[in-house]
Amino acid sequence: MPEAITTLYVCTTCKREGDDPEGPRAGARLHAELARRAEGLRVEPVECLSVCKRPCTVAVASPNRWTYVYGDLDAEAAATTILDGLKAYDGTPDGIVPWRERPKEFRSGVIARIPPFPLLPPIPEAAE
Ligand code: FES
Repeated sequence: MPEAITTLYVCTTCKREGDDPEGPRAGARLHAELARRAEGLRVEPVECLSVCKRPCTVAVASPNRWTYVYGDLDAEAAATTILDGLKAYDGTPDGIVPWRERPKEFRSGVIARIPPFPLLPPIPEAAE
């Protein structure tokens, strides 16, 4: 089985007040910075995580771990925080980082956590 890879989803359509209407949105700028700096991590652009009132927003997911959604992240300053937080996430078996070990921005910006998708036994084939 291949090693589980943590995936960071970054909303590229999040915009902040003051964004240049002709330039990339805040979410696109954050995605570009994270994609440039991430190592051993998949960074996937997504269009809207349905948290539009709390830009910028990201979600982190990994097989057999909890998924987290974060908001209120600064496009220019949050990349280091996010990468530090994901390093801590990757160091856990279930994705649950102790509260005090989470970056401050993750503690105040957490929007949701979603349980790991259960690995269910295969459904028996129906008798014919
Ligand atoms: S536009 Fe970013 S969450 Fe909707």
